[in-house]
Amino acid sequence: MTRFAKFAWLTLGYNVLVILWGAFVRATGSGAGCGSHWPTCNGQIIPRDPSVETLIEFSHRLTSGLAFLLVLAMLIWAFRAYPRKHIVRLGAVLSTFFMITEALVGAGLVLFERVATDVSYARAVWMAAHLLNTFILLLFITLTAWWASGGARFPLRGQGWTGAATLGALFLMTLIGMSGAVTALGDTLLHLDVIHTNPVVGETLLALRIYHPTLAVGIAFYMLVVLTRLMLDRPSPTAFRLGIGFNLLYVAQLGLGLLNVWLKAPVWMQLVHLLITDILWIMLVIFCATILATRPQEKPAPVRV
Ligand code: HEM
Repeated sequence: MTRFAKFAWLTLGYNVLVILWGAFVRATGSGAGCGSHWPTCNGQIIPRDPSVETLIEFSHRLTSGLAFLLVLAMLIWAFRAYPRKHIVRLGAVLSTFFMITEALVGAGLVLFERVATDVSYARAVWMAAHLLNTFILLLFITLTAWWASGGARFPLRGQGWTGAATLGALFLMTLIGMSGAVTALGDTLLHLDVIHTNPVVGETLLALRIYHPTLAVGIAFYMLVVLTRLMLDRPSPTAFRLGIGFNLLYVAQLGLGLLNVWLKAPVWMQLVHLLITDILWIMLVIFCATILATRPQEKPAPVRV
């Protein structure tokens, strides 16, 4: 593996850690730890005499700032190491673009005060949008690392059923993630005991929590059937490993989700659930890239007697 490829995987791993820390900020109600100030913290560059919430929020800003710099370094390195029109360059450009939008969504959350104890529909939309952007960001960093490690580029056009099936899997996984983000908001507001500050919205958010597990269980059948069909249509050792691994981990995640509900979603369990989600997403992205880059299996010609 080249030094660039190692760096790209490291950038991906680091970003996953930053995402987990972001969930910790939400789960502990620390999103307003720097007031409604961004990029400064309570109007100061380095907060003086900080509270625990300020420390949590400020450390998220520092760690996500480093994630931004890593993606920027990946972009510069990609342009120095790869020739014009190389697919790794495109992956790095798109990673940088979605890193910028990720920072803007994070800044928007703080500036519009959709954090901490805010109980509003707008906050639910922001949470879902944040997760969507996070997934797209991880998708492009993963593809950059995968292509830099020798993964073949694939055409998007002319993929027929395979194109629709892989896109469907990515779309459905995103839908589970976004519904999970809304569920996580409901649970957080319950833990912070602030539902009564806006009971109509609060109770609706709590009632919406049932959709996330329902979607996850329903989509399990799509994943099992469609991913197996894709593996058989376009077989390769990588596709088999990732396809089977993904489905096993997905089933384990269903169990963890159940445990999450049973334990009433403690913070550590939320972080485990989110970590498994990110691993599932990365596996699915590489699986789809492998399938789309593999030629369909030739069907044997019918034997004439
Ligand atoms: C494999 C399928 C699943 C995936 C990919 C998934 C993904 C997610 C995601 C991304 C979140 C938001 C995390 C955050 O923003 O911090 C979440 C939250 C949640 N999920 Fe799931 N989930 C799955 C299955 C389930 C199932 C089956 C249940 C329940 C039976 C469940 C229960 C919960 C609960 C209670 C939360 C809110 C607390 C938390 O953030 O952990 N999940 N899920």
